[in-house]
Amino acid sequence: MTTFLASIKDRAKTLNKTIVYPEGNDERVVRAAQIATQKKIARIILLGNRDAIQRLCPDVSLDGITIIDPKTENIAPYADTLYELRKDKGMDRATAEKLARDEMYFGVLLVHMGKADGMVGGAAHPTSDMLRPGLQIVKTAPGIKTVSSCFVMVLPEDSPYGQNGLLIFGDCAVNPNPTAEQLADIAIASASSAQSIAGIKEPRVALLSFSTKGSAKHELVDKVVAAVALCQSRAPNIAFDGELQFDAAVVESVAQRKAPGSPVAGRANVFIFPDLQSGNIGYKMVERLAGADAIGPICQGFNKPLNDLSRGCSIEDIINVTAITVMQVAR
Ligand code: ACO
Repeated sequence: MTTFLASIKDRAKTLNKTIVYPEGNDERVVRAAQIATQKKIARIILLGNRDAIQRLCPDVSLDGITIIDPKTENIAPYADTLYELRKDKGMDRATAEKLARDEMYFGVLLVHMGKADGMVGGAAHPTSDMLRPGLQIVKTAPGIKTVSSCFVMVLPEDSPYGQNGLLIFGDCAVNPNPTAEQLADIAIASASSAQSIAGIKEPRVALLSFSTKGSAKHELVDKVVAAVALCQSRAPNIAFDGELQFDAAVVESVAQRKAPGSPVAGRANVFIFPDLQSGNIGYKMVERLAGADAIGPICQGFNKPLNDLSRGCSIEDIINVTAITVMQVAR
């Protein structure tokens, strides 16, 4: 845990990127802004009213933090940009102006317009409030159709699983009911995050199900099998396999019985859940029952890095996600 997070923060310090925190009305965010600035993890743009921020945290020095208040800022350039992006979807200019003053939209507009490199938000908003402006404004990276998410699961030190105790779980936060195509997008993006964020050089990606290699017949299983075929044709240099039950994916002796010869079974380090119910439940179970640290959700597939925080996040969580966001800018 310490090694993984320390190395991410060390790398972030060398990159000198600018990250916007939209929620200047949240004490944890203001304190994280001070720490990220002082430790040089990123340059921070904090959104909100300067006096209100200082009243919220009188002991925090705002030196070195850029503060912008969307409520008083000249909003025209931001509203114009939003209007141009969304007018074909029925947004009128007045709505664009109102939305541009919303801190989540304003933050994403700063990133889209190149005034910040990335955004970390969601300490005081539900996930959908963070994702929707991202999907509408920043959109997906070229060649990518699906925004998704993954967690880096950091297992307790004595765990025999994963690479140095690190596993990747996707998608646990964005797509409620992915199609086979979207599942393949999630799997390929999660393999890439495993490499670039967790330093897992050889991702072995298990597409999970309640069936292993035809042990059950169901349309839900067919979807996973179709996603595996898409992954194998689109990213032939990465090991994908499925459909696999979780035990077959992770336990060597079970893999030998249920999926002999699989390049992934028994040794998987990236786990793709078939839908958001299983993914969200699954990561929280491993976090709570196995004592793992869940780092994320880390968003994948946006054209610029935007990351969501849990509303239960700590100041340390905000710093960690900031460091990951800086790394996503750089890749
Ligand atoms: N990838 C790419 N584009 C997408 C995606 C996606 N995953 N989802 C929606 N879009 C597109 C839509 O097609 C739409 O495009 P357009 O308007 O330009 O044509 C645009 O993004 C905006 O979509 P909306 O219709 O406004 O949003 P939607 O209602 O589809 O909601 C959202 C998207 C917010 C991601 C929704 O799926 C959601 O709420 N997901 C679950 C989030 C959540 O609650 N997670 C669990 C908690 S997180 C945790 O516990 C860590």
